[in-house]
Amino acid sequence: MNRFEGKTGLITGAAAGIGRATALRLASEGASLMLVDVQADAVAETAGLCAGSGKVLHMACDVSDPAQVGAAIDRCVSELGKLDVLVNIAGILSLDHTHELSLERWNQVLTINLTGTFLFCQAALPHLLKSRGNIVNTASTSALAGMPYGAAYGASKAGVMALTRTLAVEYGKKGLRANAVSPGSIKTAMGSRQNLPEDLDWKLIERHMPLDEARGPEVVANVIAMVGSDEGAHINGESIRVDGGTLA
Ligand SMILES: NC(=O)c1ccc[n+]([C@@H]2O[C@H](COP(=O)([O-])OP(=O)(O)OC[C@H]3O[C@@H](n4cnc5c(N)ncnc54)[C@H](O)[C@@H]3O)[C@@H](O)[C@H]2O)c1
Repeated sequence: MNRFEGKTGLITGAAAGIGRATALRLASEGASLMLVDVQADAVAETAGLCAGSGKVLHMACDVSDPAQVGAAIDRCVSELGKLDVLVNIAGILSLDHTHELSLERWNQVLTINLTGTFLFCQAALPHLLKSRGNIVNTASTSALAGMPYGAAYGASKAGVMALTRTLAVEYGKKGLRANAVSPGSIKTAMGSRQNLPEDLDWKLIERHMPLDEARGPEVVANVIAMVGSDEGAHINGESIRVDGGTLA
């Protein structure tokens, strides 16, 4: 398939996991890409792995810094000529006993996951309106069903969903679409149990376990590629669960 031939995309969080898988997928279908992440070396590595007919650029960028966000969008448009698809994937997970969750940690999760997504959407809007492009944001099953220890994370992702729906109805008449994917149980560094606190009640977390098995980040990239391409032309304001049936 070559659904992104002649199209230009910007992907945040492209150094690893779902972001890297999405970069590889869109590049393989002909997209020219601007890849951004706080991990400068790893995002450069992703760019090197991309194989396709388009040009692939990369730069270090903290999605929570408005100046860095503006610089990434400017460079994308000046060097690649336009922007057709914005894919916001950068995010952090924090699992905490809510009574112990510090305000600092709460703010950090909201700032990266929600404000970072907002900043990129806002900076990209003028260009996406010009190209009649679209946005794919990354929410989470934690926005749809209570996720124990995920007060900040779930709130940030529910915010991403509300932001996505707002953009869909506010700009839909002008030809812009905005959708979200809601992954669950995807095998990435974030999903690895090793990175989580040990004193959590895993029985409580079981409702967020997949029906059959966890899968790799490419299963989310597949859905992002469909929604972000013209195949998704009639999908707007939607959030698609990619969770192996966990919340079915
Ligand atoms: N893995 C899952 O099961 C799962 C489930 C639901 C939602 N998600 C969401 O999917 C997205 C990708 O997660 P993943 O599993 O690939 O995790 P990951 O940790 O492998 O990748 C996240 C990427 O975001 C980058 N990042 C973090 N903070 C950033 C910042 N301030 N600015 C720029 N980049 C930043 C990281 O460097 C990393 O490359 C996240 O938004 C996450 O919340 C993942």
